[in-house]
Amino acid sequence: MKTVTLSNGVEMPILGLGVYRIEDLAVCEKTVLNAISAGYRHIDTAALYHNEEAVGNAIRKSGAPRKEIFVTTKLWLTDNGYESAKKAFEESLNKLQLDYLDLYLIHAPFNDVYGAWRAIEELYKARKIRAIGVSNFSPDRVIDLGLYNEVAPMVNQIEIHPFLQQSKNTDYLLGNNVQPQAYSPFCAGRHDFFENETLREIGAKYGKSIAQVTLRWLIQRGIVAIFKSANKERLVENINIFDFELNAEDMMKIAELDENRGVYFSYDDPEVVKQFKSFGK
Ligand SMILES: NC(=O)c1ccc[n+]([C@@H]2O[C@H](COP(=O)([O-])OP(=O)(O)OC[C@H]3O[C@@H](n4cnc5c(N)ncnc54)[C@H](OP(=O)(O)O)[C@@H]3O)[C@@H](O)[C@H]2O)c1
Repeated sequence: MKTVTLSNGVEMPILGLGVYRIEDLAVCEKTVLNAISAGYRHIDTAALYHNEEAVGNAIRKSGAPRKEIFVTTKLWLTDNGYESAKKAFEESLNKLQLDYLDLYLIHAPFNDVYGAWRAIEELYKARKIRAIGVSNFSPDRVIDLGLYNEVAPMVNQIEIHPFLQQSKNTDYLLGNNVQPQAYSPFCAGRHDFFENETLREIGAKYGKSIAQVTLRWLIQRGIVAIFKSANKERLVENINIFDFELNAEDMMKIAELDENRGVYFSYDDPEVVKQFKSFGK
């Protein structure tokens, strides 16, 4: 699997499986096992997804060497704070049945982010976490966190797909040594994503599907991508993106699909901040 090098030298696989909304733990375990046998070496979960234990079971049962699998989990915002972050991290690590984590992210930019970051920095320095970062942060918040702490975030995981391309944001992150990571690369399957004619036509030229074209478009921009699929055949399909390259004209056609339209939350909307206050674990 191709990797990107994070600002601290850690190698991160450029493509991974996310397990959001795979709530059935048996299905989650099976999906992660299928992904590992299909060649994936990067799994993304979160305390919020309530399936860390299933991810841990699959990693253990896969027999793959621990150091080959890049495991990410995330701190939910109700635990953003110094003491609560330390406790939540231990809980996640126990559920994952691991003795260290590859990447730990602050899931959302609300509540006591600074307290949480200080706890995460200590865990990083104690080598319990190989790389640390944030999710759903605007670029100014990422830079602020880095400037006023000892360790700067290495990753920002944000929603990116052809209808919400965030080019200015990702260029800024890349230019400032913060790795952008795309979640929901298929627009979570909404807005008729898998019916898009432009993506279909481009795919036909290369003998590739809409999903493959989209993942390829992301990695060609230097963005790490995590998608969700609980389907064994699609897992095989989605990793088959390293044998072709989109030309400049096709990259431009995809750029023209941008509508600045996301499927999840606008984290800089004050009404969203209010909504999250009542959206706990
Ligand atoms: N940090 C955050 O706040 C945040 C927020 C949202 C998501 N995420 C992460 O990003 C991951 C992916 O995001 P997502 O689940 O929202 O959406 P997504 O990956 O954009 O889309 C998932 C949908 O695409 C379908 N799909 C996958 N491969 C396909 C293919 N080759 N052909 C046709 N359909 C295909 C899946 O169906 P099947 O399962 O049936 O294949 C599923 O319905 C999550 O699992 C999570 O790890 C993070």
